[in-house]
Amino acid sequence: MIMSAFYYNQGSLFVESVPVSDIIEKWGTPCYIYSEQMLTDHYKRLSGALNPLPHTICYAVKANSNLAILQILAKLGAGFDIVSQGELERVLLAGGDPQKIVFSGVGKKESEVLRALEVGIHCFNVESLAELERIHYLAKHLNSRARIAIRLNPHINVDTHPYIATGLKENKFGMDEASTIEAYKIAQQCSHLQIVGIACHLGSQLLALDPFLEACDRVIKVAKTLASMGIHLEHLDVGGGLGVCYQEEQPPSLEAYADALKQKLHHLPYQILLEPGRALIAECGILVTRCEHIKKTPSKQFAIVDAGMNDLLRPALYFAWHPIIPLKKRLGALEQYDIVGPLCESGDYLGQNRILQPLAAGDLLAIMVAGAYGFTMSSQYNSRPRVSEILVNQTKQHCIRQREQFSDLWAKESLIDSE
Ligand code: LLP
Repeated sequence: MIMSAFYYNQGSLFVESVPVSDIIEKWGTPCYIYSEQMLTDHYKRLSGALNPLPHTICYAVKANSNLAILQILAKLGAGFDIVSQGELERVLLAGGDPQKIVFSGVGKKESEVLRALEVGIHCFNVESLAELERIHYLAKHLNSRARIAIRLNPHINVDTHPYIATGLKENKFGMDEASTIEAYKIAQQCSHLQIVGIACHLGSQLLALDPFLEACDRVIKVAKTLASMGIHLEHLDVGGGLGVCYQEEQPPSLEAYADALKQKLHHLPYQILLEPGRALIAECGILVTRCEHIKKTPSKQFAIVDAGMNDLLRPALYFAWHPIIPLKKRLGALEQYDIVGPLCESGDYLGQNRILQPLAAGDLLAIMVAGAYGFTMSSQYNSRPRVSEILVNQTKQHCIRQREQFSDLWAKESLIDSE
């Protein structure tokens, strides 16, 4: 087990065996940097700790969908949880096995369902009766059989940001218990549907095991009811949601999470599917940014950096806290800064009221735990090209996404012909 791939050596930040400043010299800022060893380690730890439970880890692609990241996971044997055709095409390009793909999401379009049927995914996690009907109709049209699981909304309250809680009855996700059972009854009558499992997902950045275990109980209860009705499931999908430490949170370790699931599920005759995103990749990535100016006002001291909310949206969107550390440690009395981006929004900050060693223009900062929901939620807002992504494995560095050029900003736009 590696504690962290990011560490200081003689006052300089390293990723694996490479000084982060070397990477920046080559690729510039802002820049996402990922550790391949750490990602591999996380996957192997989770999978190893789940053994001998028959399981498939279906990585939630939305957390970080870079092709190289998907490729690493596919080579390790991972499955994938997707929510769009774009994610499906990425997984296929990266060498992912279609038969290990689950397709979640409340609004799968007809074209998306058709493509997923064509490549033969493991199953659709169905979120409504309307969707069940659509999938049946399209499977019939192709004269195939769609493999389905119904997503149970267990109505379990979780302690997380309201935007990322998904398992409450007022959320748009899944179906309540009675509707879920009804949906299975309907599915059973549909010649072009094959019932294979049941799914559930509570929300994201969850820090306690209890809600996961409660969700397992609900899913098991429904599976048993279905069995008594002659509907026998092959798998239980317990979703994702395990949190990580950004500040002082104390999430269960991958091992503790796996052990808890094992205790609940080991005696049951099902394949267990999981859909972790953040817990696998968040800690494996950082965003490096350069300080452009220090600006003092009567009430604040700002470090204005070259990354903004378009590069890392989480602080602006969820008031998320990410550690911010210097690439080079420096001596001097600590000072307080708001680390802000160059965009024209007051919400454009990466950290507020941070106590740091004195900063000067040109200094490099690393925003830590940025591997999940970092690049994937980035945009070109304020006409800022998306940044590069670099993957490090021991001493090697690979550019896995080039920095966009200005011409990429308008590549799909056209001027109107003037007469
Ligand atoms: N499965 C389903 C059906 C999901 O909706 C999600 C996340 C996951 C799995 C993966 O959850 P994870 O293991 O990563 O917690 N943008 C937010 C997080 C949104 C999560 C949405 N669904 C953030 O930056 O915190």
